[in-house]
Amino acid sequence: MPVSAARLAAFRILLRVEAEDSYASELLHSSLTASLSPDDLRLATELVFGTLRQRRLLDYRLASCSAKALSLLDAEVLTALRLGAYQLQFLERVPGRAAVYESVELVKAARLKSATGFVNAILRKLARDDLANTLKAFEAPTATALSIRYSHPEWLVERWLERYGSAKVIRLLEHNNRPPQLHCRSNSPGLDSDALSAMLARQSVRCEAHLLSNDILKVTEGDLYKTTLFRDRRIAVQDAGSQVVPYLLDLAPSDACLDLCAGVGGKTAQMARLKGSASPLFATDLHWHRLQIARRLHSGNWKNLNWVACDATRALPFRRCFDKILVDAPCSGTGTLQRHPEIRWRLQPERIKEFQPLQLSLLDTAFQYLKVGGTLVYSTCSLEPEENEAVVEAFLNHHPTAALILPAMPSLQRWFSPTRFFNLFPPDAESDGFFAAIIRKATA
Ligand SMILES: C[S@@+](CC[C@H](N)C(=O)[O-])C[C@H]1O[C@@H](n2cnc3c(N)ncnc32)[C@H](O)[C@@H]1O
Repeated sequence: MPVSAARLAAFRILLRVEAEDSYASELLHSSLTASLSPDDLRLATELVFGTLRQRRLLDYRLASCSAKALSLLDAEVLTALRLGAYQLQFLERVPGRAAVYESVELVKAARLKSATGFVNAILRKLARDDLANTLKAFEAPTATALSIRYSHPEWLVERWLERYGSAKVIRLLEHNNRPPQLHCRSNSPGLDSDALSAMLARQSVRCEAHLLSNDILKVTEGDLYKTTLFRDRRIAVQDAGSQVVPYLLDLAPSDACLDLCAGVGGKTAQMARLKGSASPLFATDLHWHRLQIARRLHSGNWKNLNWVACDATRALPFRRCFDKILVDAPCSGTGTLQRHPEIRWRLQPERIKEFQPLQLSLLDTAFQYLKVGGTLVYSTCSLEPEENEAVVEAFLNHHPTAALILPAMPSLQRWFSPTRFFNLFPPDAESDGFFAAIIRKATA
């Protein structure tokens, strides 16, 4: 029997994630899965995300069954082992024999026939060993135990323990190991969330308001991706935290607006919606290919968007200044480890500070192009102070006319610290983790 299509797709995606800087979520929507049935795509998705999330725990278990160090194995052999181990330990509906057989077949398909006996032996040994015993051995709230039990890098757990304490860290680790909720919003002029919710209900999709805003819908039942609203791009699928950041700009129809790091335009389109007027909104990014995706996704619905590729650490190609500017800066992404579990294994502690000079430079540029009395929002999807509070504080030290303010919307004020920093802690906000600061430019 040939290896199943879902497992082969998951195997290829995991190998690509390992070898390149690609995101699993993007590869799962690429040609690698184009021929899969909906059921197979669901299984491939579960296998890819599950294996990535549980990688450290799986490796711990595999290493205890192997005389050979895992670091010496071919990538194909290690990936087949992890996939098999994930199914054996976490997918009750997959019979143990099938999990072992499929991993052996994957190794054969990768032309590594000589490793089939090895893979077979390790997985059979693992199948006889109870996962509960391993978990019991790692119940202590130490960085080492938590990093194995909840499958995160030890250095990251250690730094979070220092900052949050064990109870809060355990909630974060548990959150990161659950599949993310599906959030959406209206992406078309004149369609409000009540009307959208009613229209979705008629297409068998149930939603409820998200705790961050009544305007953000959490999908609780049904297949959103099958609806005509999704196909016609009248709704946008976007994490609740990401949706909420543009609210902090308190946009008015007459505002001249700039989204400095627009990427594929998720927040740009939300800005267009919240601004609610036809006056132009400018969106810049270093990468033209991202702006092309953004244009394809959003320009049909929002005619006032202008996409401009440029390096925002230098002078911008504008002669004007803006009332409102969003700086959604590049960062380590530690607030998104639930959605992008591969980031856990790519990040290195020394890289947390790596973005600081770029983040400061982007803020400097944005401030130059901000009108007196205007507002800019600096945001990241990071939980790390080095790219959040430290960046904003360094910026404020060099800009005496810049001051932090609180958001206009009272419902958002509870997410601000007494020092006026916005922090969405993922398990509390039921979203990705986001940081933001609202900076007002006063007269000199
Ligand atoms: C966090 S992402 C933005 C995500 C986007 N705002 C969204 O909501 O989908 C950061 C973006 O900054 C862009 N970027 C990095 N360096 C830049 C630079 N020097 N000038 C302009 N954009 C830059 C990256 O290409 C990336 O798209």
